[in-house]
Amino acid sequence: MKIFLDSANLQELEYCLKRGILRGITTNPSIISKEPKTDFFKHIQKMADLCKSHRQNLPLSVEIFTPHPHEMFAQAQEVLQKVDYENINIKIPIGWGELEVIHQLAKEKIPVNCTCLFNEAQCMLAANAGAKYVSIFMGRLKDIGADPLPTITNVRKMLDAIQSPAEIIVGSIRHPRDISDAQIAGAHIVTASMKFFETMAGHPQTSKSVQGFLDDFKHWMSTASN
Ligand code: E4P
Repeated sequence: MKIFLDSANLQELEYCLKRGILRGITTNPSIISKEPKTDFFKHIQKMADLCKSHRQNLPLSVEIFTPHPHEMFAQAQEVLQKVDYENINIKIPIGWGELEVIHQLAKEKIPVNCTCLFNEAQCMLAANAGAKYVSIFMGRLKDIGADPLPTITNVRKMLDAIQSPAEIIVGSIRHPRDISDAQIAGAHIVTASMKFFETMAGHPQTSKSVQGFLDDFKHWMSTASN
């Protein structure tokens, strides 16, 4: 399963790029709003430049920030014009008017990440309209008492059955365990903030083992040779 970074923080992005763990990056307007106020396009350009400087041409999802479907196509074009990066993906929330925009972008070969998806029907419509990614919000489903895992599994089965090229991104991660659960349920990709990857890299038995090796070696080094 591929890992995407769900953040617009330049330092987090750089830490992850240095470790080579990412296969993509996702942002949304709330994520952008957590960063110091600056020009939106310049900030996205900085993210793209970081990817370029690390020679990692990762798909970078940039979400549209108009609620009006008739303005979305033009806004997507503005992002593509103003940001010099060959792997910009446009994030469009699901909706009846929005499906037309997704299809229009897909026809222009502009990769679309359809976002804010909460059930099988929404995912199917998005995939049929031509979305490259369907983003299911795991944590926000749990917030309303629903179990997101059967939804992920069903969507994966449905996509596989029609041989759809669309991939499932599971976002809205609240716990490292959500990442393995999403993988087992059938997600192609999980997008999460860096803190989860840091936690995943550690294990109490790893720390104990490494410490044991170092202690044994230190003891051996300090004993006199025969
Ligand atoms: C996914 O693409 C979204 O950016 C994200 O995961 C939403 O997560 P949240 O529920 O933590 O805001």
